[in-house]
Amino acid sequence: MAEIDKPRREVDVPGDWTYASAPESRDIVHIRDRYGYYVGGEWLEPAETYETISPRDEEPLAAVGQATAEDVGRAVAAARTAYADGWSSLPGSERAKYLFRIARILQERSREFAVLESLNGGKPIKESRDVDLPLAAAHFFYYAGWADKLEYAFPNRRPRPVGVAGQIIPWNFPLLMLAWKVAPALACGNTVVLKPAETTPLTALLFCDVLRQAELPDGVVNIVTGDGRTGAALVESEDVDKIAFTGSTEVGKEIQRRLAGTGKRLTLELGGKAANIVFDDAALDQAVEGIVNGIYFNQGHVCCAGSRLFVQESIYEPLVAKLERRLTTLRVGDPLDKNSDVGAINSAAQLEKIRELVASGVDEGAEIYQPPCVLPEKGYWFVPTVFTNVAQSYRIAQEEIFGPVLSVLTFRTPEEAVEKANNTPYGLSAGVWTEKGSRILWMAQRLRAGVVWANTFNRFDPGSPFGGYKESGFGREGGRHGLEPYLEFEE
Ligand code: NAI
Ligand code: MG
Repeated sequence: MAEIDKPRREVDVPGDWTYASAPESRDIVHIRDRYGYYVGGEWLEPAETYETISPRDEEPLAAVGQATAEDVGRAVAAARTAYADGWSSLPGSERAKYLFRIARILQERSREFAVLESLNGGKPIKESRDVDLPLAAAHFFYYAGWADKLEYAFPNRRPRPVGVAGQIIPWNFPLLMLAWKVAPALACGNTVVLKPAETTPLTALLFCDVLRQAELPDGVVNIVTGDGRTGAALVESEDVDKIAFTGSTEVGKEIQRRLAGTGKRLTLELGGKAANIVFDDAALDQAVEGIVNGIYFNQGHVCCAGSRLFVQESIYEPLVAKLERRLTTLRVGDPLDKNSDVGAINSAAQLEKIRELVASGVDEGAEIYQPPCVLPEKGYWFVPTVFTNVAQSYRIAQEEIFGPVLSVLTFRTPEEAVEKANNTPYGLSAGVWTEKGSRILWMAQRLRAGVVWANTFNRFDPGSPFGGYKESGFGREGGRHGLEPYLEFEE
């Protein structure tokens, strides 16, 4: 066959396509030097403060209060007063108006919140902008819709609010977890004391300004900041009727012990070690995208992250090759850069935990792959990592790493996949990749996980209940199910 002469190029084509930096402006955010507690619609001065920083460069952002048991007591009293003074007896259609307002204000101010979320927590701006903020607003819209329909949601059961809810949230989705907690509580007629995580208090504190704008009655939502001691004080507060907690299994167990016998209601959303299972008939390139989204989204700081990848043996080699190649294209860096795929690790403590578990994986004999990657000098960073040759007994296959680290295991038959996937103390989520609908249903019936995604991963919707089995906790958030923990029924 004759050689075809390629036309000579007139213009030099660059051989290197690195991205120019595309930083999001932070001018839209005004951070105060110092924050107190938002109690009864006013700011209380803290006696003691600590510095909250940005994990991208360790820059101090603001002084934030470390609330004492006394401060927590004031917040609970304000919530009780607001509950008795009318919030609990307000018609649902009136409560809905406030929730709709909050949702709309979050949409209007979403860029401001997204920038602050990325600054304080380290997640890439494209995630806070495209995932956290739209979903937080969607949760308020969704539960606004339920506020005047509780009798229809639970016919003939006479739903009424529980009272004052104490809510303790983690640092991986600071504003979104606030929305998951606050929206259903208010829709059902409860009042709230919320404690954000110590490393990421700023979007919750900015949210107080949204409450002011929405003219929510004073004391319906109160926000106290501080570390685990503040959380423990909230759990122990006599006048709280219900505790909702999202965080580590260790602290969840401690809270459950504390509340045993007190009659206080409790929901726990704890850790996970989800199986993401790829069958040999799956569309491999799509599966690779789903695997990447499953474990590198939000630096792997995700309770439902697909941290254990199970690959059917017949496609193991091509799949791992595609995955490792895809990893070389992930851009790790400044969370405020619109091109960043993977941002900063949330805290020095979390980085230390990831390093320790990764070292254990190497010591136990797994094979490590990390793409070439230049990390910023300041701040907390970890290269996206894949472990192959992982045995089920290794710590990296058993323990929640909560970082951008994937453990790859294999299976031969669907039965074996189910057995291995369920071989964990957790049960929050799972993923199945296959072309066959019947196999998806067969798997979903057998996987002991609160959520099973099929040919997708880490997809959230306010209308869909979310929660765990076993050590991943109990109770559901989202959907009609998410109303129940905030209601009492006359049987
Ligand atoms: P943590 O469970 O200590 O913190 C979560 C929240 O609970 C924070 O607001 C914290 O101040 C509060 N808290 C801590 N001790 C408390 C206590 N005794 N009583 C009441 N509240 C308390 O989680 P941490 O230490 O930040 O992270 C450790 C590990 O936990 C992570 O590496 C990860 O594996 C897991 N984790 C899981 C999360 C999830 O979404 N399921 C979220 C955060 C962490
Ligand atoms: Mg802790």
